[in-house]
Amino acid sequence: MKEVAISCRNIRKSYGANECRVEALKGINLDVYHGQLTLMVGPSGSGKTTLLSILTTILTPDEGDLYILDQNASKMTEDEKAHLRSTSLGVVFQSLYLIPTLTIQENIALPLLVAGQSEEVASAKAMEILNQLNMTKRAHFSPLSLSRGQQQRIAIGRAMINESSILVCDEPTSSLDQASGLEIMGFLRELAHASRAVFVVTHDHRIFPFADRIVSMNDGLLTTENEI
Ligand SMILES: Nc1ncnc2c1ncn2[C@@H]1O[C@H](COP(=O)(O)OP(=O)(O)OP(=O)(O)O)[C@@H](O)[C@H]1O
Ligand SMILES: [Mg+2]
Repeated sequence: MKEVAISCRNIRKSYGANECRVEALKGINLDVYHGQLTLMVGPSGSGKTTLLSILTTILTPDEGDLYILDQNASKMTEDEKAHLRSTSLGVVFQSLYLIPTLTIQENIALPLLVAGQSEEVASAKAMEILNQLNMTKRAHFSPLSLSRGQQQRIAIGRAMINESSILVCDEPTSSLDQASGLEIMGFLRELAHASRAVFVVTHDHRIFPFADRIVSMNDGLLTTENEI
């Protein structure tokens, strides 16, 4: 049986007020499952990043309920949400937010240091991840020395280090060439099939074959869902 990782019910979100008000999400019901790579597609402005921000508790919905790993996130304090993010959620933003003044190994280790782990443990774990990513030789370089595809892998590595069971990525292949994009998606699919819930927002038709499930968003509503 499929195990639900994130569940949202009747999620609504608007930005602005009066004549500037934009209804970005108009009542979203969605379940995201462990063991699956779920893609969310939809035109620009349809609300994908808004939903991703809500699913990761970075943004608070105006209405609706959000359950993450069976906990009601709608009722959590900011501290509780921060704890949930640092233990259970990995997020890769479209602008990767790698820190250029830290080495690649330090970038990956960062979430563990923030969570209070010792430097020794965090560095060793970061090295393990670099090994999985086949990038140990670059450990002591700045992320600026890497190609965009390699930077993308480092950002995914950083999102994985807390062994979160949920990984969410916004447009992970948008600025990648075909080979790097397919490689990243192969990697994300492996993570999903090793029982994580992986949720990817994309415009990129080339990566549809990697999905276990595709959900489409249009004008703030989910329109179709395909199990593959
Ligand atoms: N901070 C904000 N303030 C005001 N309006 C916003 C804000 N963020 C998003 N919007 C509006 O909400 C709607 C949904 O935006 P969102 O960024 O979620 O779309 P998207 O599907 O991710 O688009 P894209 O594919 O271009 O990334 C759009 O009309 C957008 O202009
Ligand atoms: Mg977006």
